[in-house]
Amino acid sequence: MRNIIWLVALIVSFAFAGTAMADGAATFKAKCVACHGPKGEGMKGMAPALKGSEFVTKGKADDVKKTILEGRAGAAKKYKQFPIDMPKSGLSDADAADVVKFLQGDLQK
Ligand code: HEC
Repeated sequence: MRNIIWLVALIVSFAFAGTAMADGAATFKAKCVACHGPKGEGMKGMAPALKGSEFVTKGKADDVKKTILEGRAGAAKKYKQFPIDMPKSGLSDADAADVVKFLQGDLQK
């Protein structure tokens, strides 16, 4: 019986390690899909596509991270067809960097 409890604990801890490794994707799912769509395909009248976006695929990782950390509003706003601002994400620098990796990597596949 005791062994089974340990085994369950071990499996659960591996499951959590798994999610920690997929951080960028998990953060994207939690914080970005409401506006940018589940696959980053964008949403009409809401937010631009991130999949296939030149800013994301060809831009510098630091510029993309800055947009995520600081958002984009006022004079910095680029797209008139999306009336709302890109809000500040409130993410830590490290979490934002993980999201950038996901945006420039797996999301584009
Ligand atoms: C409330 C809706 C909303 C949420 C939530 C949101 N965004 Fe945005 N995002 C926008 C809008 C609107 C723009 C376009 C701003 C503009 O006009 O320049 C944008 C622009 C961007 C851009 C620049 C795209 C380009 O082509 O210039 C990136 C990158 C981006 N968002 C990433 C993210 C990430 C990553 C998250 C999650 C951490 C996120 N956004 C969450 C609304 C949102």
